[in-house]
Amino acid sequence: RREFMNWVGFGALATSLPVAIAACQSDTATPEAETEPAAETAELDDTPDADGFAAIGTVTELDEGTIAKQNFKGEQVAVVRAAEGVVAVNTLCTHQGCTVKWDGEAFACPCHGSNFFADGTVATGPASEPLGTYEAKIDGDRVLVKI
Ligand code: FES
Repeated sequence: RREFMNWVGFGALATSLPVAIAACQSDTATPEAETEPAAETAELDDTPDADGFAAIGTVTELDEGTIAKQNFKGEQVAVVRAAEGVVAVNTLCTHQGCTVKWDGEAFACPCHGSNFFADGTVATGPASEPLGTYEAKIDGDRVLVKI
């Protein structure tokens, strides 16, 4: 009789073991599945839309001052809000190629002091040519630029 009870006890344990393992596996897999979509939505998709505009940043970033990228589709670009609306310029100074930065009122060059208005035109030299510009617009929470 004792041998029979040992055999039955072992059989019950062997039968329930796969269920216990499966339960543990499903518990560990669930949190990973829940975190993956959140990570994907946090990253901004800069694939160009059908009209050629691509997302360079968000309206929230723009409202903090400027969106500046050293390499956006191969160009150095800054986007600001101005009287004209949303403006995107190439931040390569037309004097000798330093990178201009938005100071809240103008794009200022740190090398020889040129300043450019938000639309890229020259405010003060020595630069004599305007900054390059790009089409820009807002779509929902995305700020889009067409390179
Ligand atoms: Fe900008 Fe000279 S490179 S002013």
